[in-house]
Amino acid sequence: MDTKEPSEALQDYLQKHHNEMTKRYEAAIREVYTKLVVLKDDFSTLKKRDCISMIQSRIKSDASILEKLTRKGLPIQLDSIHSKLDDIAGIRVVCKFIDDIYMLVEKLSAQGDLVVIETKDYIKNPKPNGYRSYHMVVEVPIFFEGVKEYVRVEIQMRTVAMDFWASLEHDIKYKKDSCECEDIVEELKSCADTIATADQRMMELRDRVLNKRLQYQQNA
Ligand code: GTP
Ligand code: MG
Repeated sequence: MDTKEPSEALQDYLQKHHNEMTKRYEAAIREVYTKLVVLKDDFSTLKKRDCISMIQSRIKSDASILEKLTRKGLPIQLDSIHSKLDDIAGIRVVCKFIDDIYMLVEKLSAQGDLVVIETKDYIKNPKPNGYRSYHMVVEVPIFFEGVKEYVRVEIQMRTVAMDFWASLEHDIKYKKDSCECEDIVEELKSCADTIATADQRMMELRDRVLNKRLQYQQNA
């Protein structure tokens, strides 16, 4: 007779498939990472500046997978993990400027072997708390033992400034003694709006400098 608690049995199930899942999602992350680095290098050659400051990746922990499946009332099976959870593999791309993000989205989406499943533009439509980023869920083909499978990756794209806000907001929100006080929520939103204005101004400044440089070269 199986005397294990249901949650223990679920943990065992995930542990048993841990290596298989890691292999699958690591392969997908590598594919998307490589595409991003190629785009970055291509852009850098053409424009003589970097569009990406940093790329981070992570694979969701077993505990988080378990929590999400339970919260969403989904069965603890590999099938539902692969088809219903979009963010087992996650890549965060931190860009220099807002328009770098849209350039990368366009270039990635145009690659025939990558399927865009969903996009959420929290830059044009920020969350009520001020959160800004561009989210994409994509599928990339991976060959396992000769069989082609599409594996999902969630890509979060944001500027350095948006990343600064999101990481501090995350820390503040998840402090055990933090509250959902209205004044704190408002202050965080106000900081996000200030940062968004600065992002916009930096982009305009960049263009002014580029124009001046161009005029100088033409007059030389
Ligand atoms: P899930 O069921 O969790 O996937 O919900 P969702 O699809 O509605 O989430 P969404 O795509 O909006 O956000 C997914 C991820 O974006 C989160 O796990 C965070 O990493 C990040 N994120 C979203 N909202 C916030 C926010 O308000 N603050 C911060 N710091 N990060 C956020
Ligand atoms: Mg999601």
